[in-house]
Amino acid sequence: MSQEETGIVHFKGVTKKFGSQVALNDVSFDVKKGEFVFVTGPSGAGKTTILKLILGQLTPDSGDVVVDGFNMTRLASKDIPAFRQKIGTVFQDFKVLHERTVFENVAVALAVVGLPEEEWNERVKHVLRLTGLSGQTNLFPSQLSGGELQRVSLARALAVNPKILLADEPTGNLDWETSDNLMDLFEKINKEGKTIIMATHNLEIVKKYKKRVINIVGGTIKDK
Ligand SMILES: Nc1ncnc2c1ncn2[C@@H]1O[C@H](COP(=O)(O)OP(=O)(O)O)[C@@H](O)[C@H]1O
Ligand SMILES: [Mg+2]
Repeated sequence: MSQEETGIVHFKGVTKKFGSQVALNDVSFDVKKGEFVFVTGPSGAGKTTILKLILGQLTPDSGDVVVDGFNMTRLASKDIPAFRQKIGTVFQDFKVLHERTVFENVAVALAVVGLPEEEWNERVKHVLRLTGLSGQTNLFPSQLSGGELQRVSLARALAVNPKILLADEPTGNLDWETSDNLMDLFEKINKEGKTIIMATHNLEIVKKYKKRVINIVGGTIKDK
C-alpha cells in the first residue's frame, strides 16, 4: 500500500503487552500527512504507549506500525538515525538541560543529528523566532516561566525540521492561559504543514481546538 492510502502514521491491528498487562489491544488507525490529531483517554489508557510505538521506543507484540514508509517492526539499526530525524517530541515535563542556555538547549538537537556547527546559529535563531523566544536566547531555564520552558522544548523538537511532531500531555504542567498560548503555537505550526499527534486528557483543550480525536479506553479505540 502506498503512503497516500495509509497515511504518514499507520497502525494496523496493534497489540502491546507489558507482561500480562495489555496496554493496547488490536488498535488500528491512520494519521494523514498534515493532520493534527488528539489522542485522548483516561490515565493508563495507552496514549503514551501509542507515541512510543511511533517513535520506535517500543515494538508491538503483533500488528504493524508504519511511520513515513518505515515499518517499525522491521526497522534496521542503520535506518534508525535517519528515522529519528523525522520526528520531534515534546513532553509534559519539558526535559530541558538546566545548566545550558536556551540557545544551547536547542543546539543540542542539531548536535545529536550531526549538523555542522556553522549551520547551528541560523537554525536555532529560526526556531526561537517561531516560538517567540528570540528575547530569551541567552537565558538559563531557571530564569524562564513554565510556558517559556515548554516553548524551548518545542523549539528543540522543531530544530531538525521533523515531518511529525509528537506531544505527550504538553500542557500538563501549565495553567490555562499558558496552555492556550501554547496550543495556538501548535496550531500555527500545523498550518505550516507539520503533522501533529498530541496525547492529552485535557478535555477543555480537546473541545476548544476541534481536531480529529482518537479516543482510547483500556487499550482499545472507543467512539466518543
Ligand atoms: N514500561 C511499562 N511496564 C509495565 N507496564 C506499563 C509500561 N508502560 C505502560 N504500562 C502500562 O500500560 C498501560 C498504558 O500505559 P500508558 O500508555 O502510559 O497510558 P497513558 O499514557 O494513557 O496514561 C497502563 O496500564 C500502564 O500501567
Ligand atoms: Mg501518558
